[in-house]
Amino acid sequence: MNNSVKIGKSEVVSGPLGLGTNKVGGHNLFDGLKDSDGEAVIKAALNDGITLLDTAFMYGLGKSEDIIGNVIQDFDRSKFVIASKAAQDPNNDLKPNNDPKFLTKSIDESLERLQTDYIDIFYIHFPDDKTPKAEAVDALAQAKKAGKIRAIGISNFNLDQIKEANQDNQVDVVENNYSLVHRDAESEIFPYLKAHQISFVPYFPLASGLLTGKYSRNDADKFSRFSPSKFNQIMDSLDQIKTIAENHQATIAQTILAWYIANPDISVVIPGARLPEQVDSNAKALDVQLSSAEFDEINGLF
Ligand SMILES: NC(=O)c1ccc[n+]([C@@H]2O[C@H](COP(=O)([O-])OP(=O)(O)OC[C@H]3O[C@@H](n4cnc5c(N)ncnc54)[C@H](OP(=O)(O)O)[C@@H]3O)[C@@H](O)[C@H]2O)c1
Repeated sequence: MNNSVKIGKSEVVSGPLGLGTNKVGGHNLFDGLKDSDGEAVIKAALNDGITLLDTAFMYGLGKSEDIIGNVIQDFDRSKFVIASKAAQDPNNDLKPNNDPKFLTKSIDESLERLQTDYIDIFYIHFPDDKTPKAEAVDALAQAKKAGKIRAIGISNFNLDQIKEANQDNQVDVVENNYSLVHRDAESEIFPYLKAHQISFVPYFPLASGLLTGKYSRNDADKFSRFSPSKFNQIMDSLDQIKTIAENHQATIAQTILAWYIANPDISVVIPGARLPEQVDSNAKALDVQLSSAEFDEINGLF
């Protein structure tokens, strides 16, 4: 794999561009999804050189993993890595459960749905408020020893929770909310991750589509989490990115994805997609080589 990245202290290696699959089978989270689109999204990713599929039980309560499991039977399993996650307990209103027995059972069920012998990265999707974090991580360490998973991940853990989970130095990767418009992780957790050889995978890298440049200033109400002035600032920044994108005959989304790919603090970037055309377009980010001046300019714009 070109520009390959190693996941934490594990043996897992991926290319720098992955695929987020919450819109593959994630009918419980999004309206209007079609399974046939989801299948086409996975096929497009694997044909386009995208080497990490990021899924979870929570995406369709197993449906996303089912779709991925069916599609990957026609591909060489050694050429891509799968990340999945569990915590939401279907027997308790989907509340987070990090009990070691629950996590062990969840891994076995994910393996079945994915129709594979191993899951490359398995994340605890959310912390619960009762299980000691090191005990939860130890359940994943046992699964790693048994060859069922190859790297240990945690997601949506804050710094204190990461430290508690990593007290035996077993965590390989953290997946948390991060994008050019949501950069708290840089000061809050990056220094600890770097010091402990833990990789970082950002979720919402395109800010749920806002950073593709497909929205206009009239769409502020769709992004009510940003104040009107912050939203306008983001739109100004996207206008400036357009100039950089044009220099590379690239789209805004490809240029922004190229920024994450060039960023040494980011291990694998996993933009989501609803349609195969979006995947094909996003995959071209691998061909966009930003100069260091362009990298710094984008960094400073947000
Ligand atoms: N660990 C966690 O708790 C957690 C939480 C959230 C997400 N995730 C993971 O992170 C992944 C990424 O997050 P996300 O998918 O929610 O958000 P995202 O990557 O910021 O945005 C993805 C969305 O942007 C739109 N899009 C993508 N490429 C496009 C293109 N080329 N042109 C136009 N529109 C495009 C699509 O939505 P539309 O077509 O519908 O506009 C797509 O679903 C998820 O898929 C999931 O695997 C993990």
